[in-house]
Amino acid sequence: MPNSPLSILVTGGAGYIGSHTVRLLVSQGHRVVVLDNLVYGHRQAIVDESVRLVVGDVGDQALVRSLFKEHSFDAVVHFAAFAYVGESVTNPLKYYENNTSEPIRLLAIMQEFGCRCFVFSSTCATYGVPVALPITEANPQQPINPYGQSKLMVEKILADCAVAWGLRSACLRYFNASGGSEDGLIGEDHDPETHLIPRVLMALTGEIEHVDLFGTDYETPDGTCIRDYIHVDDLAEAHLRALEHLASGGESISCNLGTGVGVSVKEIIAAAEEVTGLKVPVRIASRREGDPPSLVADPSLAATLLGWRARHLDVREMVRPAWRWISSQHGGRYSKNDL
Ligand SMILES: NC(=O)c1ccc[n+]([C@@H]2O[C@H](COP(=O)([O-])OP(=O)(O)OC[C@H]3O[C@@H](n4cnc5c(N)ncnc54)[C@H](O)[C@@H]3O)[C@@H](O)[C@H]2O)c1
Repeated sequence: MPNSPLSILVTGGAGYIGSHTVRLLVSQGHRVVVLDNLVYGHRQAIVDESVRLVVGDVGDQALVRSLFKEHSFDAVVHFAAFAYVGESVTNPLKYYENNTSEPIRLLAIMQEFGCRCFVFSSTCATYGVPVALPITEANPQQPINPYGQSKLMVEKILADCAVAWGLRSACLRYFNASGGSEDGLIGEDHDPETHLIPRVLMALTGEIEHVDLFGTDYETPDGTCIRDYIHVDDLAEAHLRALEHLASGGESISCNLGTGVGVSVKEIIAAAEEVTGLKVPVRIASRREGDPPSLVADPSLAATLLGWRARHLDVREMVRPAWRWISSQHGGRYSKNDL
């Protein structure tokens, strides 16, 4: 842990994972400026009054330069990106522009100001279809969509900047972020929402009619897809550790952030029914193109490099805060079970 508080620029800090991380960073005494264009983020997700929210684009070099002049950042944590895989297939340029070109412009300003610590939101989507399970960092990175490509390109750019001007980065490859803050103040709030846990819960609030179960004939124990759900507060903790690692002179790292526990779609539905006491309306649908049967992390490298391990391993620990959050958006009237 560095002795002095860090001055940190958090891009995309008004989004889901960013806002949880910002709260943790502030609680540890760090000074945080959030840069978010609010295309998908929410002003109210910044709950700490000490945090300055600047509404603008990561790629706006005049704006970013003025922020660096004012705040002398020690590090940047870069969450800002678009993350709809399907849209990235139909509109790839939008993704390469926002997820790859804009960070290049940000990195140029970092180089200009001699800021050499960068924590990057990468993704398990950079692996594409894994060659072996659980997925280690040795798995080849062969994304199967432009979203994954746009993130992998940034990873490669960061490696080149390390050689050229001494940038040190942490590429954190998240699996499926889930859950929300324990106090219920912030939670997952994507629009449109494509992630399974919130969609299952939205089927309970009536926001959607039912949740689609895409494929029941996979070669998995119950026939449905298996994913690795990682609590958003565990992700936040990993960012704090990555920052501390880089700020104290640590070398660049790339590692998975997952629990190492695979959970099937049917198991998520069962967990939601147990937590809420309600029956989830489900519609069986055919498989979706490009959905691998199983994506589960081997998280051991993050433990070795950062001393980090996920604290929440039972998916009910993620469903519970997600339900508390979604339910609170509806005045709590859906809560059958005590949360
Ligand atoms: N949610 C997941 O399960 C998951 C998994 C793997 C990787 N990731 C990555 O983690 C990051 C955060 O994901 P999230 O779920 O919190 O998404 P999110 O959409 O809630 O947050 C992203 C934030 O970035 C902002 N933003 C986007 N482009 C911007 C730009 N050019 N300039 C300024 N602000 C911009 C959005 O307004 C939003 O607030 C993303 O980079 C995503 O690709 C997420």
